Amino acid sequence: MNIKGVVLAGGTGSRLFPLTKVTNKHLLPVGMAPMIWHPLWKLKEAGAEEILIVTGTEHMGDMVGCMGSGKDFGCRFSYKVQDEAGGIAQALALAENFAGGAPLCVILGDNIFQDNLKEETATFLRQGQGARVLLKPVADPQRFGVADVQGDKVAGIEEKPKAPKSNLAVTGIYFYDGQVFDIIRQQKPSGRGEMEITDVNNVYIQREQLTFGMFHGWWSDAGTFPSLAHANELASREESPFPEIARKV
Ligand code: G1P
Repeated sequence: MNIKGVVLAGGTGSRLFPLTKVTNKHLLPVGMAPMIWHPLWKLKEAGAEEILIVTGTEHMGDMVGCMGSGKDFGCRFSYKVQDEAGGIAQALALAENFAGGAPLCVILGDNIFQDNLKEETATFLRQGQGARVLLKPVADPQRFGVADVQGDKVAGIEEKPKAPKSNLAVTGIYFYDGQVFDIIRQQKPSGRGEMEITDVNNVYIQREQLTFGMFHGWWSDAGTFPSLAHANELASREESPFPEIARKV
């Protein structure tokens, strides 16, 4: 079975206001392309031909205008509307019909990184079931989901802990089998009123079905002014995603 891709590109982008006043955060420039082209390119490299883009109501038109059917990108794009920003797991729940039981690679649309996902995808497909996360040591782990790694296993993940147990951030690149949708259905919102992806991953840990890999190259999110500037600088050193389209325009 081929992997299918999902890019979660919702949210209000409030931390980047006023840049996000009239457009979606994921359409802001990173390097020489709109932010969302980076995860789309990574999914294409990983072998995903069908990719679902989940975003809010306000800028759905701009998203479709920017990417269209996927024909120019050599992929098939589908779009789903997340009516209100209610968390990453809530956005992912919208992918159930699209997935149709196939294994998924899910990327948060503001995660910009260097590694090719081909090998990680192959590893997950061999795993056959469960989930897989990718970790990266960071200087400021309290901004992220943080993994407590014991031996060759993740013993638990804490979302934005005040006293992190490690410096290993859980990046916004996740692999899931079809169980993920039942897990989300049984989930309750967290203290901040969001359906947390970390809670989903902790269920896989309880089931002893969560594996992990490490990112080797650079990785950054791009949801705040400093991280956007950093991602922009890193991405500017690489070739643009979808170079043929970028050159054509
Ligand atoms: C989300 C996740 C967090 C993860 C991060 C990666 O946080 O909740 O676990 O480490 O993405 O970018 P957010 O950026 O929505 O605060």
